[in-house]
Amino acid sequence: MRKTLLLCAFVLAGMSASAWAQEEEPVAPYEQSDANAGAQPITDPDVLAAFHGREGIVRITNRTIDLALADPQLGPIFQPFDMVRLRRTLNEHFCYLLGGGCTYTGRDMRAAHAGMGAQTRDFNLLVRHLRTAMEEEGVPFRMQNRFLAVLAPMRSDVVPR
Ligand code: HEM
Repeated sequence: MRKTLLLCAFVLAGMSASAWAQEEEPVAPYEQSDANAGAQPITDPDVLAAFHGREGIVRITNRTIDLALADPQLGPIFQPFDMVRLRRTLNEHFCYLLGGGCTYTGRDMRAAHAGMGAQTRDFNLLVRHLRTAMEEEGVPFRMQNRFLAVLAPMRSDVVPR
């Protein structure tokens, strides 16, 4: 009985230590700045309205991530990472760039995707899922293109040469 109790104590101690480590050290330290978003925000209020403001952006971000996770090619790339963090930082990223007045707290695009080995076809797949999410939200094609034009130059930081 004492041995079992001792074992339980060790297991619990180990679990809380690793949970703590995950919470405290999700990514290597970096300096937070909106400049990490990699582009200037769109200032045209018509674009933000077309995305249905911050609420629409949350729906589009989550849907894009859900589609990426369900994708046989992209899913295995995303799965090992902290999706709670990604949902937050990707939403901030999109919200900042679409002029929604959010602050971006994530890393710059090069640092965030370093060592991941994403290829051009992965980039194109992710854009396709984002298109689907924007389509489902009812964002007009022209407005989708305004946003994609801001994201397109980020490819060279996401896909290693
Ligand atoms: C225009 C294209 C893309 C944009 C705008 C983008 C944006 C972002 C942002 C804002 C983050 C959060 C960084 C942070 O939390 O510090 C992130 C992380 C991530 N991205 Fe992307 N990304 C793009 C393309 C891709 C592609 C093509 C892949 C994979 C095939 C990918 C996989 C990931 C993964 C797995 C993470 C989590 C990394 C981590 O937590 O360490 N991304 N991305």
